[in-house]
Amino acid sequence: MKMDVLLGLQWGDEGKGKIVDFLATKYNLVARFQGGPNAGHTLEFDGIKHVLHQIPSGIFRKDIENIIGNGVVLDPLIFKKEVEALDKFNLDVFNNLFISKKTQLILPTHRLLDAAYEESKGKKKIGSTLKGIGPTYQDKIARLGLRVGDVLADNFKEKYQKLVDTHIEILERYNATPDLEQLNKDFFEAIDFLKKFQLVESEYKINNALKDGSKVLAEGAQGSLLDVDFGSYPYVTSSNTTTPGACSGLGVAPNKIGEVFGIFKAYCTRVGGGPFPTELFDDDGAAMQKEGNEFGATTGRPRRCGWLDLPALKYAIMINGVTQLFMMKADVLNIFENIKVCTHYKRADGTVTDIFPFEIVDEEITPIYKELKGWHCSLDTAGGFDNLPAELIDYVNYLEEELSTPINIVSVGPDRTETIIRNGVLEA
Ligand code: GDP
Ligand code: IMO
Ligand code: MG
Repeated sequence: MKMDVLLGLQWGDEGKGKIVDFLATKYNLVARFQGGPNAGHTLEFDGIKHVLHQIPSGIFRKDIENIIGNGVVLDPLIFKKEVEALDKFNLDVFNNLFISKKTQLILPTHRLLDAAYEESKGKKKIGSTLKGIGPTYQDKIARLGLRVGDVLADNFKEKYQKLVDTHIEILERYNATPDLEQLNKDFFEAIDFLKKFQLVESEYKINNALKDGSKVLAEGAQGSLLDVDFGSYPYVTSSNTTTPGACSGLGVAPNKIGEVFGIFKAYCTRVGGGPFPTELFDDDGAAMQKEGNEFGATTGRPRRCGWLDLPALKYAIMINGVTQLFMMKADVLNIFENIKVCTHYKRADGTVTDIFPFEIVDEEITPIYKELKGWHCSLDTAGGFDNLPAELIDYVNYLEEELSTPINIVSVGPDRTETIIRNGVLEA
């Protein structure tokens, strides 16, 4: 078997959690491959609304195994809280959740460094979630990091202290001298908790599962435009959020990748700093934010809102090798009489392009819009896709043509059930 990958094509929060949970019954194993507690993946079903940060979104489905892969950065404290928040659902997490021994650990001092670096950036803040993501990946690449497997070694406390001492030296340069006593205590309690889980060489587990004919879904976090290589650098996260990240973040070879499900909102949002060509500062933007309930699932910050951006979306589809598109939150556009879609960018020198340019961060880019008639009514989904309003069908058909990729799911509400499958592709 090949491993399917599901990832966000915009600036995160596209609805990955909802769709992974929806699709999970078709899989034997769901695996997170990058990011960490900066992610907030919302699931809604049976009147329950739950946000996951590091635990894969297959966790609510019985008989499915979930893996936190080597490409993830894991905060043991947040992990403990996440598992405790699942207590009331009677899930068998000790049996069906596995953590790679190669997953990097987020230390309390990584969080403090994140805050110190952000503070020092003044007006050029990235808008980090302050979960310690950047500093942890920095230590990984610098070959200084601690990994989940290290917690089993007798000298783990020494290794921990050595890294913390290095962090304290840096923090002092930023005039941040932390009192670590409580933080250390909480950290080691969380490490003891982590040790109760199945810490594994997950690359073997996943590859053996594929060899045995099991179906594996890789769950992305953040979005392609936050990718450290291809996103709006430096306003990005510190990992590869794109398809290659699933290979390196799980130990699965590129020729073992099957479908790549690219998920996007019917409009755009972004949290934190950085360019956003189609951002709206008017009543439409405010209405979109209100109707879409666009507030961060991790930080609660209001999300910036704007119209769909085709140059950015085409770029993300290209980088990821997307084979199927899923369009989310179509219902949020119910409120508009007319809907705009950005088809091209006008560059500062007056040229028109549909390329997502290197200069995206520093240059004034003006979106060029095509206006479409909205459906401007609530959606009756009982009759499936073909019975949706003609204007919504036109919108989907128009996007499919522009993007040269089939749109096989249209999501029309946050609940599992508010999901319309098209083309029969995913029903098998
Ligand atoms: P993720 O990070 O990609 O998993 O997305 P988030 O959970 O951060 O944000 C998506 C938000 O939109 C959540 O509050 C979901 O419950 C909600 N959502 C998902 N799909 C839909 C949809 O089709 N319509 C509406 N109105 N809300 C949706
Ligand atoms: P999910 O998985 C939206 C953004 C932050 C900030 C930048 C860097 O829920 O889609 P970081 O903490 O990673 O150093 O922050 O990336 N960001 C996200 N935005 N959804 C996310 O995750 C995000 N994770 C990070 O707001 O601008
Ligand atoms: Mg989110």
